[in-house]
Amino acid sequence: MNAHNDQPRPMTFTAAPALSGAIGVPGDKSISHRSLMLSALAVGESRVEGLLEGEDVLATAAAMRAMGADIMRDDDGIWHIHGVGVGGLMQPATALDMGNSGTSTRLLMGLLASHDLTATFIGDASLSKRPMGRVIEPLSAMGASFAASPGGRLPLTMRGLCPAVPISYRLPVASAQVKSAILLAGLNMPGQTQVIEPVPTRDHSERMLRGFGADLEVAVEADGARIITLTGEAELRPQSIVVPGDPSSAAFPMVAALIVPGSRVTITNVGLNPTRAGLVELLQEMGGDVTVINPREVGGEPVGDLVIAASALRGVDPDPARVPSMVDEFPIAFIAAAMAQGRSTFRGLEELRVKESDRIAVMAAGLRAIGVVVEELDDGIIIEGRGGDPLPGGGPIATHLDHRIAMSFAVAGLASRNGVTIDDMRPVATSFPGFAPLLTTLGATG
Ligand code: S3P
Repeated sequence: MNAHNDQPRPMTFTAAPALSGAIGVPGDKSISHRSLMLSALAVGESRVEGLLEGEDVLATAAAMRAMGADIMRDDDGIWHIHGVGVGGLMQPATALDMGNSGTSTRLLMGLLASHDLTATFIGDASLSKRPMGRVIEPLSAMGASFAASPGGRLPLTMRGLCPAVPISYRLPVASAQVKSAILLAGLNMPGQTQVIEPVPTRDHSERMLRGFGADLEVAVEADGARIITLTGEAELRPQSIVVPGDPSSAAFPMVAALIVPGSRVTITNVGLNPTRAGLVELLQEMGGDVTVINPREVGGEPVGDLVIAASALRGVDPDPARVPSMVDEFPIAFIAAAMAQGRSTFRGLEELRVKESDRIAVMAAGLRAIGVVVEELDDGIIIEGRGGDPLPGGGPIATHLDHRIAMSFAVAGLASRNGVTIDDMRPVATSFPGFAPLLTTLGATG
């Protein structure tokens, strides 16, 4: 499973003829993690179809198995999970290896905080740089204790408390991971756990907790803040889940189709939860021809098919209030901006500095390396668009173990004069197995 033991896998992406065809993308990463975790807490068998079989989600599966859940995949690709019940997780015998996955780490820290057990979390070089203080703080207030590496980082050992103490917590950063960690902790304690989010973030945890039968209420204040209240000592019922395609993965072929002249591509079965759909809106504002067809609901989540045609894009200055609804999509949005007519100014992106890499610095360096004029800001970036002219190209782009950096510059290569070389494509397996072959089926040469 660990992609980071073998040698770096460089790859060059070159100018593509018009892309065409209909594709689907792998299952949603956020929903896949939560499917495994909640199923592992329900007594009886849950069934998950369309689970993302990427390294991040497999890290969650391995951890849930290590704590007692029975998880298997059948020959038709359906996952079957027999859970242990809320409060029934067992002490893992060895350290939990989270690989590259911040979501696995933070959500599992929440889940374990209200269990009477000790666990050690380890991860790769990227994950070991990421801040865990944002979950350590509220989970400590609930009674868990932590011995973390300097700066609140991995490797980290935690001890949960049972019964733990419910809290009411106002999120200081707009983070669905922090929100979810607190709610998952709240499942196994008496009383009501409350999270107040001033800026809405992805709400998959709320939708799925309700779907599994938890008592969860959401109130919206006049200023738009959301107050989420979960009643503890929950009993979760097993579910049958269909995971929609990941909009964060669809983002790459979507932008590729917009910037490779003459393209027309359909991406089927894409999750369009409004807390995730910010990129579609942004690209439409930039003049992108992106149409949603067949809107429908699958397993409590809005889903649709996207039809995308190559378009002349205009620069934008997106409202920072939109950041949480496309927090993972900025690297590829920057590639769209680099191809647009005019300047784009992105602000309010401080969270990008603590993702799998410092995505502001790494994107600025990569864009410069392929001939784009940019200015890095503390909280964002200014990009001078090339008005549809091909990107000069170059590389190798340093991806710093960040899947979304690798895929963003791969897409840039398709609209480049001289090709773009990526230093290492291995991290793509964390979220988008089959990414490069999928581009090839659309007509790209890689
Ligand atoms: C995620 C939330 C986001 C996102 C991550 C997945 C989740 O992180 O970047 O890829 O599944 O809850 P933050 O909530 O910390 O912004």
